[in-house]
Amino acid sequence: EVVKAINGLEKVVLREIQGSSVEIYLYGAHVTSWKNEQGEELLFLSSKAIFKPPKPIRGGIPICFPQFSNLGSLEAHGFARNRLWGFDDDPPPFPVDAANKVFTDLILRPTKEDFKIWPHSFEYRLRIALGPGANLMMTSRIRNTNTDGKPFTFTFAYHTYFSVSDISEVRVEGLETLDYLDNCKKRERFTEQGDSITFEESEVDKIYLSTPTKIAVMDHEKKRTFVIRKEGLPDAVVWNPWEKKSKAMVDFGDEEYKHMLCVEAATVEKPITLKPGEEWRGRQQLSIVSKKLDS
Ligand code: BG6
Repeated sequence: EVVKAINGLEKVVLREIQGSSVEIYLYGAHVTSWKNEQGEELLFLSSKAIFKPPKPIRGGIPICFPQFSNLGSLEAHGFARNRLWGFDDDPPPFPVDAANKVFTDLILRPTKEDFKIWPHSFEYRLRIALGPGANLMMTSRIRNTNTDGKPFTFTFAYHTYFSVSDISEVRVEGLETLDYLDNCKKRERFTEQGDSITFEESEVDKIYLSTPTKIAVMDHEKKRTFVIRKEGLPDAVVWNPWEKKSKAMVDFGDEEYKHMLCVEAATVEKPITLKPGEEWRGRQQLSIVSKKLDS
């Protein structure tokens, strides 16, 4: 189902037979809503989000491509999140069976203007699928279609903003004892302690390196655990802007940091290089369990 939303931007709504749903703006191929079978919203979307190009939408799941953060010459997090995507009418077969899922296939190709800032030709195909249990699967396939024989290199993230009841009651499991680059400390490298990660008093902006493929975000107050499973995305970024940074962002409420946490399936430390004709795949699957995981 395609509907007109704010400012004439179009969004696609996927509804699963058991009642879960997902909303995706063609602007940025940006998932802005993911609801479980009870109709509860699972993603954070800022009440101050600006739905007006070229501003990326604050919240949901922005796609960072071809550059994560400001680690290169492009605008922060690249340009995929503020381009208008199209429907992919002729998607190639995807490796994962689409049975029991509702899905949509979107595609991004660079315009001449894009080519000026990133001189590469590519096809970025994204399948967003929703299955039983509100499982949300996003599969990206990026192909180098350069005709000049040149490879290209990129970094990437699914920048998921989870909705949480109270950040001080949230724990992240799966990142203990890992090395990380601390974005708040000039990307200096540290090693995480043995305990699950909690959020106490200031901005957290860390790139965990070579993580397990499964990460859990536990919301104790809601007795809910988000499970992130990822493939082709070795790193995981954890971000909460906390008080000071929240106030500095025009499209983010001063107190909203209490109700969100970004855990981003990413490949940052080791950029991906594709030769012409080569394709990369990166997938994240989000699911929810309604009580604490014991693993
Ligand atoms: C995170 C980065 O992924 O995104 C942070 O690690 C950044 O450094 C945050 O502040 C938000 O970025 P933006 O461009 O959407 O404001």
